Amino acid sequence: MDLRLDETQEMVQETARRIAKDILAPRAAEIDRNHQFPKEQIQALGEAGLLGVNVPESLGGSEAGVVSYSLAVTEIAAACASTSVTMAVTNMVAELICGFATEEMKRRHVPKLTSAQYAAGAFGLSEPQAGSDAGALKTRAEKKGDRWIINGSKQWITSGNVAGVIVVWARTGGPGPKGISAFLVEGDAKGLIVAPPESKMGQRASPTVGLTFEDCEVPAEALLGEEGQGFKLAMIALDGGRIGVASQAVGIARAALDASVAYALERQAFGKNIGSFQAIQWKLADMATELEAARLLTLQAAKLKEMGRRFTREASMAKLFSSEMANRACLEAVQIYGGYGYVDDFPVERYLRDVRTTTIYEGSSEIQRLVIARNLLFD
Ligand code: CAA
Repeated sequence: MDLRLDETQEMVQETARRIAKDILAPRAAEIDRNHQFPKEQIQALGEAGLLGVNVPESLGGSEAGVVSYSLAVTEIAAACASTSVTMAVTNMVAELICGFATEEMKRRHVPKLTSAQYAAGAFGLSEPQAGSDAGALKTRAEKKGDRWIINGSKQWITSGNVAGVIVVWARTGGPGPKGISAFLVEGDAKGLIVAPPESKMGQRASPTVGLTFEDCEVPAEALLGEEGQGFKLAMIALDGGRIGVASQAVGIARAALDASVAYALERQAFGKNIGSFQAIQWKLADMATELEAARLLTLQAAKLKEMGRRFTREASMAKLFSSEMANRACLEAVQIYGGYGYVDDFPVERYLRDVRTTTIYEGSSEIQRLVIARNLLFD
């Protein structure tokens, strides 16, 4: 198996690394503290082609493939997790529209997503009473002539207050997954009411909001795919999204490891640097080994998707292992820093807060285990 990156992948990785270092890292702590949406950072990603990495060039993407996408998310996340989730969800929405919208809708929305003319894209699946059990969602869409009228509410919507376009899942038929359809709703649509951003533990520069739809009208062409196909589209998008979260977790864990290595070489205790002690060495060795395993699982899932092969199980494995690994790595980083890890003068405190949600969003660890087990037992 060839593990070398090709020229395009190296170029995308290098581009993302440069933006991360020059534009994101210097401001990551400040925008987290101020809960400030990373508008200029997203603009820079758009200019570099990183908002549509796996999107056709004809629609404004860079058509560089899924492995490139994964590498780019990792680099961005290592500097600023908030920017990386905004980037990942925007890429996911752009890909979903490319795959299933009408030609007119693709041309209307995708170039604006990839160029950052839209501040972001958003994914409106979860509801106050339906997170893991997405098939139980209650928002409804009724057909009225050539329009759809949407009523209901969504919860935990990343970038829902700034997005130019939101994919909204709503019930058009009976109960369960088969009664669900997906729609494109523009961010300024009449009847769309946006709640104030949640006050979150981490990724605080990425706004998370509730949305309410009160007789929100969209045209017939806003239907994504076929009526009743919405749940499958959500699952297909989330399979890819989970590669994004896995890549993000790998990036945050790498940042935690790099910070820990630097600190271990610098911090003195008992007349030596703390990296001389086996207690610290073993922590670093475990962090590095688990990180490498997560990185390879993630790249494997990305490669399978890129080859057009089935990748549901591998994406869930990558997301499960990487997010759990990254949580352990960030906890250990704080432990290595001691008291300095518990204050916001150093970034490891932010890494720990930022990483916490990676085992929760885009399908919790429990849901990933369910997907993996069902795949082993019944597929
Ligand atoms: N690809 C294609 N189709 C799929 C699929 C996949 N990966 N997974 C399921 N389906 C299909 C099934 O084949 C089935 O279709 P048929 O009836 O035609 O066979 C249909 O979808 C229903 O599938 P299930 O019976 O498996 O559905 P379920 O109700 O048991 O739910 C689940 C399965 C895996 C638990 C799913 O509900 C799930 O993934 N839940 C988690 C939701 C989630 O990840 N939410 C994240 C919110 S978005 C977010 O966090 C983004 C953000 O802003 C950061």
